[in-house]
Amino acid sequence: MVLTGRRDTELPSAAELAVIWHDLECGGYDADLPLWRQLAAARDEGSPAGPILEVGAGCGRVALDLAAAGHEVTALDLDRRLLDALSARAAGMAVETVCADARTFELGRRDFALCLAPMQTVQLLGGEAGRVEFLRRARAHLRPGGLLACAIVTEFEFFDSTLGEDGPTAETVRLEGTDYVSRAIRICASDGGVLIERGRQILSGEREAPRGGERDVIELDLVSVEQLEREAIAAGLHPAAAGRIEDTDEYVGSDVVMLRA
Ligand SMILES: C[S@@+](CC[C@H](N)C(=O)[O-])C[C@H]1O[C@@H](n2cnc3c(N)ncnc32)[C@H](O)[C@@H]1O
Repeated sequence: MVLTGRRDTELPSAAELAVIWHDLECGGYDADLPLWRQLAAARDEGSPAGPILEVGAGCGRVALDLAAAGHEVTALDLDRRLLDALSARAAGMAVETVCADARTFELGRRDFALCLAPMQTVQLLGGEAGRVEFLRRARAHLRPGGLLACAIVTEFEFFDSTLGEDGPTAETVRLEGTDYVSRAIRICASDGGVLIERGRQILSGEREAPRGGERDVIELDLVSVEQLEREAIAAGLHPAAAGRIEDTDEYVGSDVVMLRA
């Protein structure tokens, strides 16, 4: 990311920071890309190949990869700042962005052949009620026989570094002489879900003087493959054999729930 029009002493804007942290914490993950590419290629066998919808697309890690392979992609997210970065990166490629909520979106078309929800997006929707709303919306936008694929994490490695327990190594990027460091501090059970707390620090220059920072806390809903499949049936979808994305050194593996319209 290039930070433009900036004096040395200025911190990035809130929008730039949102993109920097998102890229740092999600952008390096690539273990799932072969599966999304495979599903995109398989849907091309349809005649004609329908477009792809990615829900919770963020800065476009997946959407841009598929668009670069020549697929027509619509990228939907709640966060306009991330979508603006995605659009800037998409220059010349067939990617439309839509700023909308996964639980209420209405795109006025019903021809998507494939809808993807990578990286636990369905675990960010406010529990079962929100997931079922999303499943209904996805179902409404898929053409008959179209596929919805949702990646979920069902097993977590809990730790609390504030109690001296080891956590994963921090993720770091240097941009224009400033280091951005994101460290998972704690993963623990919460009411019906899992809490993931990160410490984010901005460090400047050779002396690495702190220039800013924040705590970021997200709560993932717990859901099993079987439960998501039951919810999908209630939303008018038909479960197919689930897929699997294996663990990497840095990321836990995911189950991928496959649902046909
Ligand atoms: C873990 S990130 C995944 C980003 C991207 N799909 C990837 O795999 O790199 C989850 C994304 O879901 C978006 N999101 C969370 N709740 C949402 C909602 N209710 N509607 C639409 N997007 C949502 C967040 O803004 C974030 O970009």
